[in-house]
Amino acid sequence: MDSILNQLHEGNNPEQAFLLLAVLALIILIGVALFIALIQIGGLYNILQQRNGGDTWQLAVKRWWTNIYDAQVGLKPLETEQELLLAHDYDGITELDNHLPPWWKNLFYATIFFGLVYMVMYHITGSWQLQLAEYETELSVAATEKAEWEKTQTNSINETSAKFLTDASTINDGKGIYTANCVACHGPAAGGGVGPNLTDSYWIHGNAIGDVFKTIKYGVAGKGMTAWQATLNPKQIQAVASYVLSLNGSNPANAKEPQGKLLANTTQAKQATAAK
Ligand code: HEC
Repeated sequence: MDSILNQLHEGNNPEQAFLLLAVLALIILIGVALFIALIQIGGLYNILQQRNGGDTWQLAVKRWWTNIYDAQVGLKPLETEQELLLAHDYDGITELDNHLPPWWKNLFYATIFFGLVYMVMYHITGSWQLQLAEYETELSVAATEKAEWEKTQTNSINETSAKFLTDASTINDGKGIYTANCVACHGPAAGGGVGPNLTDSYWIHGNAIGDVFKTIKYGVAGKGMTAWQATLNPKQIQAVASYVLSLNGSNPANAKEPQGKLLANTTQAKQATAAK
């Protein structure tokens, strides 16, 4: 039982599996109850009784079933019915102490069994989680999965797959990275200093996102531009590159004179990957 439940838990959708199990159990329970009720009505019971003289195993099954049935129903032959009679007598109306219908009684036992299992598993041993705990587990699992997914996303970003992102959160991240690492050489508004002006339309190494990504990642050896791949992760490089490209045309005060070639600064040009 436990291993089945463990397997279900390991499945992609344990809630659905549990629901399925619960529905199946309910269907079986209702089936059994209906079956017993049918027998009680008498039809099946009579058929079974008329089948005397069948094969031995059939007889054995029948006897086994009849025993169960008799125990459940607790009927007495008419002659000994007096034994079932209750003590009271209302103006000649008497009552037999008959058993409750088996389907009803069995359903009742099933609820007791269910309640016991529920209490032990959820409240005593805590093996199964209550709703809130289950919800919190799911949240933490999802958070871990998300973090892992984000890691793979980060590692797959390179100069050929980098995207020029314009959403506020990326630009904001990029701005933070720029302020912390790049201001010394490119100026607070990227107008240039030791390094070139990054806001004009003149570029030494290209202005496609892939080119900018590449320049930032590998640096420019011997020209004073640091390689950032050891300091910034690919996602951060993509963010700062997007930020730099978003500054195009911002025309800050005291900007450095143009360096490099005049390039088209359309969004389309910026979105291109690095030239091979
Ligand atoms: C130590 C100084 C220095 C720092 C710090 C620095 N850069 Fe540079 N950067 C330069 C220099 C110098 C160049 C010009 C290289 C050349 O002449 O080829 C340059 C070039 C660039 C270019 C290419 C410009 C073009 O015209 O093609 C980009 C883009 C760039 N840097 C972005 C950054 C970013 C983003 C940061 C921060 C993460 C940064 N740089 C930090 C000095 C620096």
